[in-house]
Amino acid sequence: MKFREDEAEEFRALLRDLLEDPKAAEMKNFIQHGKVTTWSHCYSVARISFLLARRLHLRRINERELVRAAFLHDYFLYDWHARGDRLHGYHHPDIAANNAVRDFDLTSREENIIRSHMWPLTFRHFPKSIEALLVSITDKIVSIRETLFRRNR
Ligand SMILES: [Fe+2]
Ligand SMILES: [Fe+2]
Repeated sequence: MKFREDEAEEFRALLRDLLEDPKAAEMKNFIQHGKVTTWSHCYSVARISFLLARRLHLRRINERELVRAAFLHDYFLYDWHARGDRLHGYHHPDIAANNAVRDFDLTSREENIIRSHMWPLTFRHFPKSIEALLVSITDKIVSIRETLFRRNR
């Protein structure tokens, strides 16, 4: 899925503060799957969530909350492979959400998007908005693509 016309600029404008933030840039230091860094995985999830919302004409969506939370959804800041944490899938949404609340000014919807992104695995935290559901679905698609096809774009 590709940007059309002014979409790339619109997308980057929504994410500008976070793209320029050195704390968010720490995600470049960790590998998510294969050769893909967490930063690049999160950027892809934000980009695809934004494009899906546009292509599905989801008009009532808050694009700013959608892309910011999508970009921070895996802001857990450690190498989960090195930790050997078999329950990483369960734990990391809360860790990412707590880190993001600590480091950035998040809305409650943004926080829920991050905390519920592994749903239904984390059954207690379910998506409370269309934005949260969209990020949860997009993350699964992007993760499968990165893992199986080693795609990083
Ligand atoms: Fe995740
Ligand atoms: Fe993810």
